[in-house]
Amino acid sequence: MSGRFITLEGGEGAGKSTLLAGLRDHFEAHGVDLLLTREPGGTPLGEAVRALVLDPALRGVCAEAELLLMFAARAQLVREVIRPALAAGRWVLCDRFTDASYAYQGGGRGQPETRIRELERWAAEDLQPDLTLLLDLPVGDGRARAAGRGDADRIESEEDPFFERVRAAYRARAAAFPRRFRVLDAAQPPERVLADAVAALAPLLQAQAR
Ligand SMILES: Nc1ncnc2c1ncn2[C@@H]1O[C@H](COP(=O)(O)OP(=O)(O)OP(=O)(O)O)[C@@H](O)[C@H]1O
Ligand SMILES: [Mg+2]
Repeated sequence: MSGRFITLEGGEGAGKSTLLAGLRDHFEAHGVDLLLTREPGGTPLGEAVRALVLDPALRGVCAEAELLLMFAARAQLVREVIRPALAAGRWVLCDRFTDASYAYQGGGRGQPETRIRELERWAAEDLQPDLTLLLDLPVGDGRARAAGRGDADRIESEEDPFFERVRAAYRARAAAFPRRFRVLDAAQPPERVLADAVAALAPLLQAQAR
């Protein structure tokens, strides 16, 4: 049986990394062979691109360059990591994927959705997650959480209206693809968020066990 591809999405400080760690333990307890990865990143090229796109010293990066860099990292991740893992029957849990480009470079930076869709088809082989967990949180709450981590990266340095557009774009994606998305209330305590995520994943795990 081929593996399952699950993605975590949400704004800055929504709790994606926290949930990823909780889910890793949950999957291990169920004996699922899980591969964890992240975007941008997950390959040597992707991690180099991550350093570039998040570098606060790189002011004035245009939206087109940012979008192409994200898809350069994604093209490599899909071919080098995700596809081979799924073909080997592994489960892949990825911290952000193409929905993040629709939210950040689309909603946030105003790149046309049709252009992102074209890149998704070509560069990302139109790979779609089996399930996407969207951690939805008011922008101010996420920023307050992320602020505790110290220096802001280039994207974290944007103003609130940018993050409001990102949040709205994420929610629009969830509304447009209701079978793939589960929207989680990320304002809850971490253990409640994890419980909701586990409940959302239960049907996939049950199908696997059969
Ligand atoms: N449900 C929660 N309630 C309160 N605090 C939380 C919750 N989840 C995570 N946090 C805290 O908020 C901060 C940001 O969490 P985390 O790093 O998991 O977010 P993230 O979505 O991965 O952020 P980024 O997009 O920047 O990678 C951390 O200090 C974390 O401990
Ligand atoms: Mg994180």
